Amino acid sequence: MRYSRIAGTGGYLPERVLTNADLARMVDTTDEWIVDRTGVRKRHIAAEGETTCDLAEHASRRALEAAGVGPGDIDLVVVGTATPDMIFPSTACLLQERLDIHDGPAFDLQAVCTGFLYALDIADKFIRTGSADRALVVGAETFSRIVDWTDRSTCVLFGDGAGAVVIEAAEVPGIVSTHLHADGRYQSLLNVPSGVSRRCDGAGSGYIQMAGSEVFRAAVKALDRIVDETLAANRLAKTDIDWLVPHQANTRIIAATAKKLDLPMSRVVLTVEDHANTSAASVPLALDCAVRDGRIRRGELLLLEAFGGGFTWGSALVRY
Ligand code: ACO
Repeated sequence: MRYSRIAGTGGYLPERVLTNADLARMVDTTDEWIVDRTGVRKRHIAAEGETTCDLAEHASRRALEAAGVGPGDIDLVVVGTATPDMIFPSTACLLQERLDIHDGPAFDLQAVCTGFLYALDIADKFIRTGSADRALVVGAETFSRIVDWTDRSTCVLFGDGAGAVVIEAAEVPGIVSTHLHADGRYQSLLNVPSGVSRRCDGAGSGYIQMAGSEVFRAAVKALDRIVDETLAANRLAKTDIDWLVPHQANTRIIAATAKKLDLPMSRVVLTVEDHANTSAASVPLALDCAVRDGRIRRGELLLLEAFGGGFTWGSALVRY
């Protein structure tokens, strides 16, 4: 059998930091409210002119270096993003050119906050079926561009960033299993209503609209179910999981998933405090953070999960 494994990880956050105190000067909010309801203390914001591809490039170079491979070794590029630089070409094609990668397929994948897990699933299948040997899988976003900075109910939640992994063919499973879901019936609860075909039809429609508490409840339920699904598919017990690497939207949602797994918060990678919700970048950024600081070690079993607009949600069981 042919499988894929993670060979290296990388992450990048833009230089500019926006703290809760900064936000309290912009909208009617407080550091206490934001920390209490979300866990977020600060977020990074892309500079004027800095794009999703710029962030993706930094994260990808770090992942390539960590994997000990060069651009010529990559034969597939998949970028999970809801905030591409251009309508077309895809951010993956722009990134391919930047990194001097040629000829192999390159495409973007749009599943909002679940984008990286969708991208990882697809890249893993390319490798398992022999269509690729080594893939660059990226989650990169500039959500600051689609946040209404006058809306306190959403602007405190998001930040910009990019995370990347290089995955390569292996004889034993690194990506053990992936589980993806979507339910478009919930599109009205979380969206950015403008688009190419619909066009921008009024003030504010190019910004995130969210029914926060409904999304919160749906996320907790869906992530609860996906923990059961992932463990059952692999005939595992909760105690087999070494680390939870969750989507970083809200510490209360993450704590609910950790409780479901009977995992202490010391076995959960938490970056939401420092990065806020970076959508598709959030899971690979958290993974890279815990790999680089030595918490996650080779051979450990990781549960990656995410939930986002669509709704979309998914998980990946990874033997690192
Ligand atoms: N500062 C101060 N008060 C605020 C703020 C703020 N930034 N934002 C809202 N409030 C107020 C509201 O106006 C409301 O006041 P009221 O009671 O007088 O009406 C009160 O706080 C409570 O508002 P709720 O929305 O009920 O607060 P809740 O506890 O649900 O927390 C939050 C809101 C943090 C948004 C939470 O619902 C949440 O995290 N939801 C999930 C978000 C998420 O996970 N998204 C994931 C996917 S994102 C993607 O896919 C793009």
